[in-house]
Amino acid sequence: MAAPRVNPLQRLWLREIGIEKTWLREPKPQVAEPAPLVPAQEPARVAAREAAAVGRPAQSPAAPAAPARSAAAAPSRAPTAEAGAAAAAARPTPPAARPAPAAARGAATPVAQESAEDRQARLRRIEAADVETLHGMVSGCTACGLCQGRRHAVFGMGAANPRWMVVGEAPGEQEDRQGLPFVGRSGQLLDAMLASVGMSRERDVFIANVIKCRPPGNRNPTPEEVAACAPYLMRQIALFKPERILVLGRFAAQTLLGTDATIGNLRGRVHHVESEGRQIPVVVSYHPAYLLRSPIEKARSWQDLRLAARG
Ligand code: URA
Repeated sequence: MAAPRVNPLQRLWLREIGIEKTWLREPKPQVAEPAPLVPAQEPARVAAREAAAVGRPAQSPAAPAAPARSAAAAPSRAPTAEAGAAAAAARPTPPAARPAPAAARGAATPVAQESAEDRQARLRRIEAADVETLHGMVSGCTACGLCQGRRHAVFGMGAANPRWMVVGEAPGEQEDRQGLPFVGRSGQLLDAMLASVGMSRERDVFIANVIKCRPPGNRNPTPEEVAACAPYLMRQIALFKPERILVLGRFAAQTLLGTDATIGNLRGRVHHVESEGRQIPVVVSYHPAYLLRSPIEKARSWQDLRLAARG
């Protein structure tokens, strides 16, 4: 078993995320069949309450930023200080906190009625949207009942020209409050995990969720909510054109890959999703909130990151 080489910086980050040993086995890259870029039919059924399992982030603020992509401000993919500064300058200030709507406190979410015609029209607008238009659509979306309980829809955040997209499940309480993804403890762990392979959320990745509005009580999203929301993620993938996607947690992986396979089954090989005729490599790993609860799995998640970094 060959120990992977780590440089001193990586070693520091590994220590930071709780991995002291460097005897991890290199994952053998395997290539899985391309998956359709469609949500699983019944992700909520198969996800078996991952939201409870991952326990969405416990809360502390992280780097505030929200996406904006303008030709003038878009940084190059090269990870330079200028690029990072340009990306930061391109981002609007995160939305101010709003009080929780009454519906956020109840478990039931009234279903918003989107007619078939309205859905078709919305899908056409999504297909034609640039990043800013899409951001506006997500912020004002009323396609499902989750809009009634949200403070903020969470579009995502990160680099204007990301090398990776990181895809999570849905906003938790802090994300809903701040309008940004992964801002709690699991967000801090995610940042450390990314740093362990030399990536940063501001410079290299765009972080988004399958579901843009917080499900009340962090319950699993319903198939209807996934069907309503998934087209936004698909358009984000088409617009950001990431070199690869790191998908975190069972729900997001099953939805993105259109499967009900377990994380254990999906990890350790490279999947693909098709976006505008391109096959984008997808690596599946554990949700950081799960890692906070099961730190023993951090070693495996680092293997996943290395697999993603190798592509
Ligand atoms: N968990 C997720 O999957 N996404 C977030 O944005 C926060 C927690």
